[in-house]
Amino acid sequence: MNSVKDVPIQFDYPQQNASGATCIAQAWAKAPRHLAPNEKLEVVKRIKQLLKEKDAALIAHYYVDGDIQDLAMETGGFVSDSLEMARFGKNHAAQNLIVAGVRFMGETAKILSPEKRVFMPDLEATCSLDLGCDATEFAQFRAMHPDRVVVVYANTSAAVKAQADWMVTSSCALAIVHQLKEQGKKILWAPDRHLGRYIQEQTGADMLLWNGACIVHDEFKGEELAALRAKHPNAQVLVHPESPQSVVNQADLVGSTSAMIKAVVDGSATEYIVATDKGILHRMRQLAPHKVLIEAPTAGDSATCKSCAHCPWMAMNGLLDILDCLERESGEVFVAEPTRQEALNCIERMLTFTKDHPDLLAKAQHGFVKNIGVA
Ligand code: 13P
Ligand code: SF4
Repeated sequence: MNSVKDVPIQFDYPQQNASGATCIAQAWAKAPRHLAPNEKLEVVKRIKQLLKEKDAALIAHYYVDGDIQDLAMETGGFVSDSLEMARFGKNHAAQNLIVAGVRFMGETAKILSPEKRVFMPDLEATCSLDLGCDATEFAQFRAMHPDRVVVVYANTSAAVKAQADWMVTSSCALAIVHQLKEQGKKILWAPDRHLGRYIQEQTGADMLLWNGACIVHDEFKGEELAALRAKHPNAQVLVHPESPQSVVNQADLVGSTSAMIKAVVDGSATEYIVATDKGILHRMRQLAPHKVLIEAPTAGDSATCKSCAHCPWMAMNGLLDILDCLERESGEVFVAEPTRQEALNCIERMLTFTKDHPDLLAKAQHGFVKNIGVA
């Protein structure tokens, strides 16, 4: 069996991940206040009315509060992973998009649809990967390796995307890097070190890695997971590829949030250990109510647990903030036009690739399943 301990990753640009305790604590401090049932009903009713009146669509990520996910589904909006959120916003006819998620998701929607107005419940909802990949530092890394194709993860700022050849999400990263490797390309990858290492291992591509991490997935622990698996020997283990190698090594499926949900819905097992943000359990329970879902272990209440499997920035999205977007037009996302135009190239390249190559995507998705390569 593969190791349940992590092997250190070799970094080619040792940028410190700017995910210090202070900014995480600030995010938790901004968590929306709890609404009493009657107040919640009133707020939801008003939001539904305003979404119609203002020609707006609500797009939510699987990690945000379950009430917001339900509201998106009930109003003709959408709940999904970051790839499909981008595609839905671009193709939807509404003039206004409300993106409940984190900053890069709102920026991606605006970059793809400059003619639409894009709003976010809280513009300060960011991501440790985005925070840990400063655009100026990244430009220095790029300048050191002009011979490499620049592939960046969606969880980056518009200013970083403006410097990239390709943007990828966890749904399509494996397929795209595999194709680049087949074309003989060498890759410069940023910012997630775990996803980068995983893709490198699966494709054999020549990749230089930035040293970034997701503070949520970084906390899943290999040894504790092994102990949990021993207690649940029939459980399938589903892991998001932003997790450390010791956790990925024990997975029955490594995949995007959508792939993990599909595995629970379609899978024959009755028990699943889930290594990603616990917000995803809401949709999993709705779609597969009879399956047993077990949260993968993090550091628990120990000093090193900063998120305990819930993203503090995703948690900043609240119903009252959505109401504010609609009533007061607060939280509008702006991206400077030159940056937008430059960032657009790498996003459109990804959307075209994923539309034109459903076969490669499916094959690579298959490759996410343990012990099956993309060859
Ligand atoms: P997905 O693309 O799988 O939805 O992941 C986005 C993300 O931020 C995971 O932490
Ligand atoms: Fe970023 Fe991690 Fe939060 Fe996803 S879960 S938005 S990668 S900090």
